[in-house]
Amino acid sequence: MAVREILRMGHPLLLQHAEAVEAFDTPGLHALLQDLHDTMEAANGAGLAAPQIGVSLQVVVFGVRSNPRYPDAAQVPYTVLINPRITPLDDALEDGWEGCLSVPGLRGVVPRHQNIRYQGFDPQGNAIDRTVSGFHARVVQHECDHLIGLLYPMRMHDLTRLGYTSVLFPGMAEDADD
Ligand code: NI
Repeated sequence: MAVREILRMGHPLLLQHAEAVEAFDTPGLHALLQDLHDTMEAANGAGLAAPQIGVSLQVVVFGVRSNPRYPDAAQVPYTVLINPRITPLDDALEDGWEGCLSVPGLRGVVPRHQNIRYQGFDPQGNAIDRTVSGFHARVVQHECDHLIGLLYPMRMHDLTRLGYTSVLFPGMAEDADD
C-alpha cells in the first residue's frame, strides 16, 4: 500500500498520450492498481488516472460512495478500467462542475456527453462494457481524458466559470481539491 505524489498541471507527463496495457494480471499491474486506489482514497477523490501518479499507461480507477464532496452525486461503483474506449450515444451535452486532483483548489464548469458507452478491461483482462449517463458518464470522461493528455480546463468553453473552490463554494470542506 502506497500513497503516491499526484502530479499537478504543468507537469509534461500529464500532457502525454498513455500507452496501452499489454499484459494483464501481473504483479506490476496489481501494484499500480493498489497505489492508484490508495492515493485516490487518501485524497478523497472520485477518480484517478495512472499518468497522475507518473505512470503513462491507460489505466484509470474511479468510484463514488456517499462522498461528502459530491453530496448530490449518484453512487458510482468502484471500477478499474484499462485500455478504455468511450462512445457517445447521442449528441446530448450537459454542463457540470468538475475538479481534479492535478489542479488542486479549483473548480470549473465542463460540458460532457450525457450518455455514453464505455468499454475496456478489468485487471484480469475481462471485458467491461457499460452504458451510463449523468455523473457516472462525467467521471469516466474526465478520467479517460487524462489518458490523452487533457485536463478539464482544456474542455471548458467558458473560463469565467473557472474559480477557486473556497471562493465558489465557501461552505465546502477545506480539503476539497478534486
Ligand atoms: Ni482529474
